Amino acid sequence: MKAIILSGGKGTRLRPLTYTGAKQLVPVANKPILWYGIESIVRAGITDIGIIISPETGDEVRTKTGNGDRFGANISYILQDQPLGLAHAVKIAQPFLGNDPFVMYLGDNLVQSDLNLFLDDFKSNHLDALTLLCPVPNPTAFGVAEVDESGRVTRLVEKPKVPPSNLALVGIYMFAPLIHDAIANIQPSARGELEITDAIQYLINAQKNVEARQIEGWWLDTGKKDDLLEANRVILDTCADTDMKGEIDESSQVIGRVRIGARSRIINSTIRGPVIIGDDCVIENSFIGPYSSIASDVELLNVDLEHSVLLQGAKITDVHQRIVDSLVGQRAKIVEAPRKPKALRFMVGDDSKVEIA
Ligand code: TTP
Repeated sequence: MKAIILSGGKGTRLRPLTYTGAKQLVPVANKPILWYGIESIVRAGITDIGIIISPETGDEVRTKTGNGDRFGANISYILQDQPLGLAHAVKIAQPFLGNDPFVMYLGDNLVQSDLNLFLDDFKSNHLDALTLLCPVPNPTAFGVAEVDESGRVTRLVEKPKVPPSNLALVGIYMFAPLIHDAIANIQPSARGELEITDAIQYLINAQKNVEARQIEGWWLDTGKKDDLLEANRVILDTCADTDMKGEIDESSQVIGRVRIGARSRIINSTIRGPVIIGDDCVIENSFIGPYSSIASDVELLNVDLEHSVLLQGAKITDVHQRIVDSLVGQRAKIVEAPRKPKALRFMVGDDSKVEIA
């Protein structure tokens, strides 16, 4: 069994962050989203992994993630020239996949469920495709499955106006090599993409064994800012532990589950967990509230912040209002604000600067 993780695409929904960086590398609890997928696949016993990359962000994904040693896996990179659809990504991965069954994992997804049980089901029932589903309140925004009582999928619809169920397709699939024949037989959709839902529907129409299982626990599609902040909240809630490597001076207070990286300095500040702070940060005269993830090399001076994600090298000084629900890009700067008792909400891209006059 092999796996492919789709880490190409356009990432339009996380712009401006994704003008300069891969959305799959945006960190949740200071770890790139993509790495959660790799770890989950390796935990399920699959170590032969192909990562689909785009010409724009492929080098960054490859440099950051490496050859798989750190995960105990063997990672190959597969370049997709254009984001021509999820089924197109499978098509170009065919030389890597050969005749093996495989897991297909969308690189911007985070799920709580372990894959093992689903893999066992897929193998022991000799399925041609297994899709994972999650009930959602707004199925019109997703690919939706119609499933009969025995778990067989009868129909798949992309973003239906009248949804046949509330079961959204989570971005994780298991396929027998037969999927390659299905993909060879479908045409691009109205949006010009080779759709994996069309390929699966082709298998259903040919009476092949296509089943679905509901995942347990949470599933987060991190394509948008608020989803990303929610993913960060959930991961910090379930995974954060206490680990203090940096220096905390005597006038600072650290409360609850807080991780502070090497060489980071906390000066005259309060940190209320769950919070994670990377390496080489300086946090001075500031309050960092729950559900904040601060990457390495961040500087905060006179800042009051909570429920936010700050990327590497961000710098915020003298903002006297509380910053909440914010996502701040790499090396972005936010400086000076007058003292007004109002909250500020940001989505600031990499290399940008915000001045509040
Ligand atoms: P999507 O979220 O469907 O597409 P996108 O990345 O273009 O995002 P947006 O809607 O914000 O513009 O993609 C799901 C995952 O699959 C994501 O990790 C990107 C990846 N992908 C590819 O690798 N190749 C592709 O051709 C497409 C469409 C997506």
